[in-house]
This record gives sequence, structure tokens and C-alpha cells, in this order.
Amino acid sequence: MPLLITQATQPYPGQRPGTSGLRKKVSVFQQPRYLDNFVQALFDVLPDASGQTLVVGGDGRYHNRVAIQTILRMAAAKGYACVLVGQGGILSTPAVSALIRHHGASGGIVLSASHNPGGPEGDFGIKYNIGNGGPAPESVTEAIYRRSLEVNTLHSLDSPDLPLDTLGRHTLHHTEVEVIDPVANYAELMRGLFDFDAIRALFASGFRLRYDAMNAVGGPYAKALLEGELGAPAGTVVNAVPLEDFGGLHPDPNPVNATDLVEHMARPDAPDMGAASDGDADRNMILGRHFAVSPSDSLAVLAAHATRVPGYARGLQGVARSMPTSTAVDRVARRLGIPCFETPTGWKFFGNLLDAGRATLCGEESYGTGSDHVREKDGVWAVLFWLNLIAATGQSVPELVQALWRTDGRCFYSRHDYEGIASERAEALMQGLREQLPSLPGRALTELPGQTIALADDFAYTDPVDGSVSQRQGVRIVLSDGSRLVFRLSGTGTEGATLRLYLERHEADPARHGLDAQLALAPLIALAETLARVRHFTGMEQPSVTT
Ligand code: G1P
Ligand code: ZN
Repeated sequence: MPLLITQATQPYPGQRPGTSGLRKKVSVFQQPRYLDNFVQALFDVLPDASGQTLVVGGDGRYHNRVAIQTILRMAAAKGYACVLVGQGGILSTPAVSALIRHHGASGGIVLSASHNPGGPEGDFGIKYNIGNGGPAPESVTEAIYRRSLEVNTLHSLDSPDLPLDTLGRHTLHHTEVEVIDPVANYAELMRGLFDFDAIRALFASGFRLRYDAMNAVGGPYAKALLEGELGAPAGTVVNAVPLEDFGGLHPDPNPVNATDLVEHMARPDAPDMGAASDGDADRNMILGRHFAVSPSDSLAVLAAHATRVPGYARGLQGVARSMPTSTAVDRVARRLGIPCFETPTGWKFFGNLLDAGRATLCGEESYGTGSDHVREKDGVWAVLFWLNLIAATGQSVPELVQALWRTDGRCFYSRHDYEGIASERAEALMQGLREQLPSLPGRALTELPGQTIALADDFAYTDPVDGSVSQRQGVRIVLSDGSRLVFRLSGTGTEGATLRLYLERHEADPARHGLDAQLALAPLIALAETLARVRHFTGMEQPSVTT
């Protein structure tokens, strides 16, 4: 099996991995040696791999299999002692994180474009996770980018494809490649965190769950755990087989994309709970009968009751949320007397807090929830957590959320996305806002009589663990009653720019908790228009997605 050294034919100047890795259209990844160039840049910046283990897997989307074969050959040429690859090339993002930690691997490669559509016309992505199981920090992704501009030799093997559909061991050059069961290690981790007996008893009592895996990688995990181990009836997990194009679904679990699940939960004979996960199974959506749980409330509920779950029975060190996520969890933290950290958007910002033992649970408004069990958000984990809470408290999904509102008040919350806008227009909107910032504090508001702007800034974050500073993480405008508007541009899109407008208002009066969120937020929506001229800059009358 000779080593193969090829001259890199093309530099690909656009290979700058973002928060979630390098994410592009499949057609971009299909360019000759595009993936190879990026993987070589990655391997060039990593230290010597001798004696090291690498974990490799993806969400099964189109191009996954081709990419994995390339990566296995290049990893062998790099000299890894061992590569663990999921059967069929399948591993969820949280499962990769768990495997890296369990095996003491030096890192892992995740092939996914998360919740972005798949198939030949869809998106593909590659992301490197480091030895703590979490996404590579900016210092590493920047080094990869710089190296990707200079790669001139590709190191690979002249070897046939490995059979990935059967479990087993192979030797590639001096590297042992082991095709592993994608679920086993993850399932073991879950058994150690949750009260499986209590969840089993819940299902045995007739509790009904509908888990929509959206034809993505959550399917095998949900099926093995819920139906295989916890006694949920067959058919509990739907769309359970990962398909290369997700069967045409947009595997982003929110009420806009998971319409079939939402429709089932609105029926008179709706199950007790609904859940969905995204392409790579790190996001989750939780629904009750005729009831949608906002991700910010979900995090707060999990935090409030965490000690009911065996893995968190000793209490939480602290909690963390991304800046635009609602302040519901802050109120829970205050009650519990634990710290609550506010970080920029992106899971990587939780890594240091989790590693340092300063936060145990964390979450984002974008349907991401997780804990220190891995260094990624974790969709299946979140569903098991809810099931465990329902089993332990005897309360339904809506009851748990409404009890939170009664105790802490309700944080009405919504995110408005304006997708596919021209980048210059989006930049101009943000620039316009930034220029106004100094003049805003103290301003009285006609949209909200009696209120003034208390704070207006471009969020900057100093990491409490390593002191690193991240600037310009989103414009936030906080009113005298604590209501908030946040504006930021997406860092994960692949077409044009996406403006995200986040709206939050706290309501203490229980008589008003039943209001529709968009109605409750209407004055804030109007204020956002006044301040940012959203319609003018986006050219859109309405957001393209409202969650
Ligand atoms: C989006 C979400 C963010 C999440 C990221 C990766 O990023 O808003 O919370 O961490 O996807 O899943 P954005 O497109 O807003 O930059
Ligand atoms: Zn994802």
C-alpha cells in the first residue's frame, strides 16, 4: 500500500472554517481535491499523529461516504495509530464528542452541515473537534485557514475503499481503522446519566412520544434507546433512517421545518410529547400536546429540575446561555444560587466553562441544549432529560413549563430570520445600528410608553477562564423593563447573509401568560423596525422564518 504524494493542483482561498466548520454547497466539495486540500491543511497544523487516535463520522448526508474514504487514506498517511469510524460512515456530532472523550482521542472529524438541507443540491461540511471533544477553537481554525492557502503536497494512500458497512478492523498502511457501532458508546453514556428504569416505567404506563428524526442521523440513536431499550412502542421514532438527502426534509427542528410533527401534536389524539432532532442530532425541539416549548424555556426547565436526574443529582456548578437566548435560565440560576454565564452565539464558547467545571448545563435559543457530558449540544440527550423529568415529577410537558412561568414569570421570546439578503445590505443595517449606539441610552420610546433604552452596545465577551476577548458579537438594546432586542448576522449560512432579530419581554402577570408570543412582542417588533429599518435594508416585508 504505497504512500501517495500529489502536488496540490489548486489553492482554494475560500477554505475558512467558521464556528461550525467549513460548510459549503456539495458542488463546491466535489471540486477536484477540494476536501483533500482542507484535510491536508488540518493535518499539517496538527502535531505528529503517531500513537494518536482520530474519530471520524458524519450525518450520512450526500458525499459523506466519498469524503470518509478520502479522510481515512489521508489519516493513514498522516500516521495515526488508530482511526475509529462509525459503521456506514455514521456518527452523530454528540457521539463523536463522546467517543473522543471516552477513548482519549486527540481529535475527531465530523462530516455534516448540521441542519442545512442535504443531497446533491444541498450543503456539506467538515469540522474538526479537539481532544476535549469540542469544536476547534479559533486559533486552530485560523491556522487551518492560513495553511489551506499554502498546501502544495497532499499525502494519501494508493489503496482501495474500505468496507464501512460491516463492523471490523482493517489495516491501512500502519494505521488500524476500526469500524464501530455508532450507538454503543453513546448509549452507555446515556445509561449513566438518566434513570432508565423510571423512563421504562413511564412508557409502560402508556405514555406516548413521537420522535421525528427527520431522516437524519438522530434516527439510529433514538430508535436504539427509546424503542430498543426503554420500551417505547415500535413507531415511536419516525423518519428514523438517515437518508442522503434527508428525504427532501429540511432537518432543522423548529416549528417551521418540522411541520408534520407540529401537525401531529395539534391533533385531538396527539401523543403526550413530541420531539425532533436535526441533521447531525445536536439540536432538539420539544413539544407537548398542543404546546411548543421555546428552547430558552427548555433550558430553564432542565436547570430548575436537574437534581431529579441521576447524572445531575449533586446539583449544577453553573449554567450558561448564549447572549440572544432568553433570560429565563438566569432567573432559575438566581433561585438556585448558582452562576449564570452569558456567552456569544456558538457552542464553542461553552467549552472553557464546561472544561473548568464552572457550568454544567448550557443552551442556545437555536434549539441547542447540552451539558458537561460532551462538548457539543446534544439532541437525543435533551429528549431523554425531558422524559426523565416527566417520569420523576409526574408532570406533563406543558405543566412543567407553566410551573416555570408561575414561579419566574414568562419570558416571551421570538427570533425573526431574514434569509438570503445581499451581504452589503446586511452589513449596512448593522453599521447603521452601530453608529446609533452611543445616542440610544436614555431615549424615551413612543412604541413603548413609559420606557427608555437602558443599554445599547455591541456585545463583547471576555472568557472568564482564559481571558480571551471576542468583540462585535451582536448589537443588543435593553429597555428599562429588561426587554431586549438583539441584532446579529448569521455565521453559518451558505447563501447571502441572514439577519437574525431576537426579541424578548418578561411578563410577571400570570393572567397574561397565555398570550400569543408575536402579539406580546408586537411593540418590540415595531421598535426594531424604527431603529434598524429592517424592511428597507432587507427588502422584505416579513421575516422568512419566525421561531
Ligand atoms: C446558528 C445558531 C447558533 C448555533 C449555530 C450552530 O448560528 O444561531 O446558536 O450555535 O447555528 O448550530 P448562526 O447562523 O446564527 O451564526
Ligand atoms: Zn446540528
